[in-house]
Amino acid sequence: MRSDGDIREVTVETERAGRYPVRVGRGVLGDLPELVREHVSGGADPAHLAIISDDRVAELYGDRVRGLLDGIAPVTLHTFPHGEQNKNRLQWAALTDSLLERGVGRDGWVIALGGGVTGDLAGFVAATYMRGIPVVQIPTSLVAMIDSAVGGKTGIDLPGGKNLVGAFHPPRFVLVDVELTGTLPRRERAQGLVEALKHGAILDVAYFETLLAEADRLLDGDPRASFRAVLRSVELKARVVSLDEREGGLRQILNFGHTLGHALEASSGYRLPHGSAVAQGMVLEARVGERLGVTRRGTADRIAEGVRRLELEPETGPSDEARVDALMERAARDKKARAGAVRYVLLREVGATRPEEGWSREVEDEVVRQVLRGAEGRRV
Ligand SMILES: NC(=O)c1ccc[n+]([C@@H]2O[C@H](COP(=O)([O-])OP(=O)(O)OC[C@H]3O[C@@H](n4cnc5c(N)ncnc54)[C@H](O)[C@@H]3O)[C@@H](O)[C@H]2O)c1
Ligand SMILES: [Zn+2]
Repeated sequence: MRSDGDIREVTVETERAGRYPVRVGRGVLGDLPELVREHVSGGADPAHLAIISDDRVAELYGDRVRGLLDGIAPVTLHTFPHGEQNKNRLQWAALTDSLLERGVGRDGWVIALGGGVTGDLAGFVAATYMRGIPVVQIPTSLVAMIDSAVGGKTGIDLPGGKNLVGAFHPPRFVLVDVELTGTLPRRERAQGLVEALKHGAILDVAYFETLLAEADRLLDGDPRASFRAVLRSVELKARVVSLDEREGGLRQILNFGHTLGHALEASSGYRLPHGSAVAQGMVLEARVGERLGVTRRGTADRIAEGVRRLELEPETGPSDEARVDALMERAARDKKARAGAVRYVLLREVGATRPEEGWSREVEDEVVRQVLRGAEGRRV
């Protein structure tokens, strides 16, 4: 790991997906040309650098990134309208057409500049264009820095559900300039910080407590606090992704809060944002663990406190029997594609999961139902 004041380099290393560095820092965007040159294999420069960005991020940072890359190779900027609803087949088609029109060949690279939507969509374009060309991830939202830019998952949504078509396509490198979050709205920051809270809850109690203590500063976009949080999350996610193959599917622990979180998100018709849904999912899943006697008492309340400090609602809405049915049905449907019972990642306490059941375990429906019903009574 390179350490240079406010710049760090973390390495993701997997057997299947190879090895790539994640450079995290304040003001590191300027390192882009050097990193591109360093990561070209065989000494040849890429023949074309195709920046893919949504319209908002392109407006904010497109020219800067283009300016940095000018001189290495011909640079083109390909934009799509912002928003999750555009992470779809139509935009995939428009972007691949646009690359072809502008003459991007097999020796071109995609530079994915933006939030998680851009990272997933541009990553999937790169994974499929001419059977796959390299991609560089430059995340600009906290969701993307803390979660999506590391791990190599790319994809698009279908009318039938989110992320149903995709590919593993690890980047050549990831460049995380925390200063880029300066233009991010406060509510978008909270969405990303939920995943940071999750990293703390599953792996690192000290980090969890720091997030609670610094929540205000983080929501305000304080650059030092943001740098520390993004770096710790990148380190934790990189470690989990790197150890996954050796540790029997360790990566599953990243799903903490997501089984019920996804059910809440889907049953709201996706009006409840992902981070807000996962925040409630973490509290509920911690309550499931407490009810089973495998999670230390008080864990769910502590997580709820963290969620509150991020100015999000920690508890789900009233859960009458019909809503409980709907949520259970959603959670089961999510799993059906994988043929099996619904599995939950359960904590031992804040900062620790439970390896003994293979990182996640099946839970009887009735236990989950009781927790969902109980959510009503606890709502403030
Ligand atoms: N691949 C993975 O492992 C993984 C993990 C988590 C989430 N995701 C995906 O990430 C997506 C959500 O990501 P997101 O929340 O970043 O959404 P997003 O990319 O839509 O970004 C949210 C909004 O913020 C804007 N924005 C981004 N950076 C900005 C900046 N620096 N300043 C001002 N505005 C900025 C965007 O234009 C957009 O309007 C979902 O599609 C989800 O499925 C993927
Ligand atoms: Zn998530």
